[in-house]
Amino acid sequence: PGRLVIAVDGPAASGKGTLARRLAAHYGLPYLDTGLLYRMVARAMLDAGHDIHDAVAAEQVVNSFDETAFPEERLRGREIGEAASVVAAMPAVRAGLLTRQRRFAAQPGGAVLDGRDIGTVICPEAPAKLFVTATPEVRAARRHKELIGRGEAVTLDGILADIRRRDARDSGRSDAPLKAAEDAIVLDTSALTVEEAASAAIGIVEGRR
Ligand code: C5P
Repeated sequence: PGRLVIAVDGPAASGKGTLARRLAAHYGLPYLDTGLLYRMVARAMLDAGHDIHDAVAAEQVVNSFDETAFPEERLRGREIGEAASVVAAMPAVRAGLLTRQRRFAAQPGGAVLDGRDIGTVICPEAPAKLFVTATPEVRAARRHKELIGRGEAVTLDGILADIRRRDARDSGRSDAPLKAAEDAIVLDTSALTVEEAASAAIGIVEGRR
């Protein structure tokens, strides 16, 4: 078959990254975690000593940062997720990251991208769009387990509060807010194992290609 672009969107810790990786492996497609791009901008801002709310500095950073400079280890922490959602609300940051995401999606065989606005803004023409959700409590439990595994001292209540704040910021911003595309299929992973969610995701894509 021809090109296949798969857009996977959803809130923090919904399981979208895991599913996007599984889809990429299943279809033999390259995968881009677009959240990492926003995390890199946030990391570069903090490393340079800028105030995370400084939109002028963020615009300079987004047009000059080195994508290869950050080991993933330095991008996955709690503080960076929070900072990423602050810079992600800035139109100049979103505009600065748009081209590289579109270029990734334009590869000959297609690609899998995950994020918040892949189906709505980055790849509106993608035939297969998933919007992955889970309850805030389930997402908090998953993220808590992940952060504890990384050795961070976090509480479940603290993580739940983070998740609610990040949801509000990502859904409430005016530029590319988190929302399901009209033609996306919603997959609620709250009560599903990874295997169950992965086969449901493949089933959804099969119905669209
Ligand atoms: O997915 P992840 O938690 O790594 O994303 C970090 C932050 O980056 C999100 O909270 C969101 O604000 C932002 N983001 C975005 N658009 C994307 C991917 C991530 O606004 N496509």
